[in-house]
Amino acid sequence: MAKNDPREPPASGPGGETSRIARNLKLLREHPRTFLQKVSTWLRPMERTYRRRWNHGLRKWMIRYQKDLLFKRVRWMGVEARKMVLDAWVYQDIIYETRPDVVIEIGNKFGGSTLYLAHLLDIVGNGQVIGVDIDHSVFQPRHPRIQLVTGDSSAHETLHRVQEIVGGRNALVIHDGDHNTEHVLADLRAYSQFVALGGYFVVEDTVSDVFRAGDGLGNINGPMHAVRQFLREDTRFEADIDREYFIVTYNPRGYLKRVR
Ligand SMILES: C[S@@+](CC[C@H](N)C(=O)[O-])C[C@H]1O[C@@H](n2cnc3c(N)ncnc32)[C@H](O)[C@@H]1O
Repeated sequence: MAKNDPREPPASGPGGETSRIARNLKLLREHPRTFLQKVSTWLRPMERTYRRRWNHGLRKWMIRYQKDLLFKRVRWMGVEARKMVLDAWVYQDIIYETRPDVVIEIGNKFGGSTLYLAHLLDIVGNGQVIGVDIDHSVFQPRHPRIQLVTGDSSAHETLHRVQEIVGGRNALVIHDGDHNTEHVLADLRAYSQFVALGGYFVVEDTVSDVFRAGDGLGNINGPMHAVRQFLREDTRFEADIDREYFIVTYNPRGYLKRVR
């Protein structure tokens, strides 16, 4: 087979092309039937297309998700949701396991994520979503479990209104509002009071600190800085990296669990 033949992914690791040829010769000698099956998949165009597509690195895939899917394709029940769908599945885990009475979602936009949370609470049969946003003009859903609080999440009046509604119940807080470090840190300090032992404060989009500014996902002044500072000053919380089990997440080190 010629070098750079599109029918097989490029050689990688020690030995490269030579060791790949040796591996294939060994396979031909020892398991001729398996070798023939392998060759037949090289020749099938559909498999070739998928093999090439799945040869993406995770970084490239996440930039594609951000650019081509997040703002164009991701919806919950027809309503736009600015969510990494693998994280949404983790929220389902957290709600099922911790049974919060209230989910405080800071940053709602069109409301797809807010509606998703309300539907999860429908399924577990308990709870209310408090949707906090500085601007609810494009918010779409109507659902009996959703109550909106319109205002800057860091403003005293907004916090006070949320306090009134929560009324001492235990909450899951999901922060997807203003992602700049100072704002996220202020909200972490203010809203962490609602999380009971064993509960979670999820800081979204910490991924932006990991990517480079300019590549579509990066923010040099992002929420991961805020998380780092908050964890230094509030030892009741720890980053629960077990919630990153899909590896792909928009919230690396953002699943903060109250452990004390
Ligand atoms: C990324 S969108 C939220 C998307 C939504 N959580 C979802 O997954 O579909 C961010 C939202 O945060 C809101 N926001 C920005 N700054 C805010 C602030 N200081 N207080 C409250 N909301 C804010 C914006 O109005 C916007 O609707």
